[in-house]
Amino acid sequence: MTSFVRRTSRMTEAQEKAWRAHAPRIVIDIPQVQPNGVLSPRQPLDLAQVFGREAPLVIEIGPGMGESLVALAKAHPQTNFLTFEVYRSAVGGIVVKCAQTEVDNIRVAMVDAVTGLQHLVEPGAASEFWTFFPDPWPKNRHHKRRLVDTAFASLVASRLTIDGLWRLATDWPNYADQIRGVFADHPDFLNLYGDLGGIAPRWSGRPVTRFEQRGVDEGRPIRDFTVRRIVR
Ligand SMILES: C[S@@+](CC[C@H](N)C(=O)[O-])C[C@H]1O[C@@H](n2cnc3c(N)ncnc32)[C@H](O)[C@@H]1O
Repeated sequence: MTSFVRRTSRMTEAQEKAWRAHAPRIVIDIPQVQPNGVLSPRQPLDLAQVFGREAPLVIEIGPGMGESLVALAKAHPQTNFLTFEVYRSAVGGIVVKCAQTEVDNIRVAMVDAVTGLQHLVEPGAASEFWTFFPDPWPKNRHHKRRLVDTAFASLVASRLTIDGLWRLATDWPNYADQIRGVFADHPDFLNLYGDLGGIAPRWSGRPVTRFEQRGVDEGRPIRDFTVRRIVR
């Protein structure tokens, strides 16, 4: 079961034009993606070749249209940003923003993040992970679809450097409770705000996205988490 439902939607004309011009550079060509976005086993990516340079790596899972990703990549030109996003029109939005802002340190893998991380990313490759406003799956019977659970945390831990950070945020209180529970028990992570109820201050580096604003407008509290990869 995946944390997303494959959606089909048309890209706007501007997105299609930008896609033709810039996607070959920004969107990684990945054979063996199944129609549902899941990736079959294959060789990991050669990230130095994908980015055209060696640099510290940040991985964002589910950036949507890249509202925070593109701004942060622009602000950190010395870092490589690899992102997993399954929704094609969202990837189209990222491609347009990269082109408009002349950002060249983002590469997009348009595949499921779980199988993508397993098969494309070497252990210990990333110094930081971000997961902001993952799909909330608010109905009880859908909670099993939520991305952030103990198994996913173990996968992220395996791809982080020791001492690497994972930053997360959600506007859904019971998803926040689930995330706090995952880190309370996880042997590979230390919640940096464990003594303060587990909730981090809002990361000021993170621009407010449409999803965060919708949570605020609908009266939901925004909860941030910052956890460190540790070896016990
Ligand atoms: C609610 S949106 C949040 C977008 C963005 N992070 C923000 O804060 O505005 C969640 C995004 O995660 C993507 N997503 C969900 N599960 C995914 C998965 N397993 N792999 C890759 N992307 C995923 C969805 O397609 C969607 O664009």
